[in-house]
Amino acid sequence: MKTLNYLNLNENSVANVVVALQSLLADFQVYYTNLRGFHWEIKGRGFFVLHEKFESMYDDTASKIDEIAERILTLGGTPENKFSEYLKVARLAEVSGVSSSREAVENILETYKHFIAEERKLIALAEEANDVVTADMLTGYLKEQEKMIWMLVAFSTRSCEHK
Ligand SMILES: [Fe+2]
Repeated sequence: MKTLNYLNLNENSVANVVVALQSLLADFQVYYTNLRGFHWEIKGRGFFVLHEKFESMYDDTASKIDEIAERILTLGGTPENKFSEYLKVARLAEVSGVSSSREAVENILETYKHFIAEERKLIALAEEANDVVTADMLTGYLKEQEKMIWMLVAFSTRSCEHK
């Protein structure tokens, strides 16, 4: 039995969506471990705020990882679970030893920039495949990430720069 027979989606078009979701899954896994590193290694005046913030961000990332993997299964694919395989397709780099808030926030902003670009491409692919549910899931991610960019930029901006 195949899920796609019941979903009424075209197998070939959906195959492109699944491949793109696998790459996104790999990127989210790398981002997750990067966030754990930021949570552990952050130092300085922002410690208490950022240590907690990074924890809530990696928890949120873990639930997105599960959601992407289960979407791949729903579309008839098999989500990868080996980290060694993630590193072959991930477009994000692993980072470690980041203890400054500036460096951590810059890395997160660059990561969001990447996610936003990839998710927009994936939404177009999903729409081509008539896969509105994947498009909707990723639109939700975009909405959260765009808002998060505003907040991270606000956090990184010194108040005197607003004058
Ligand atoms: Fe912790």
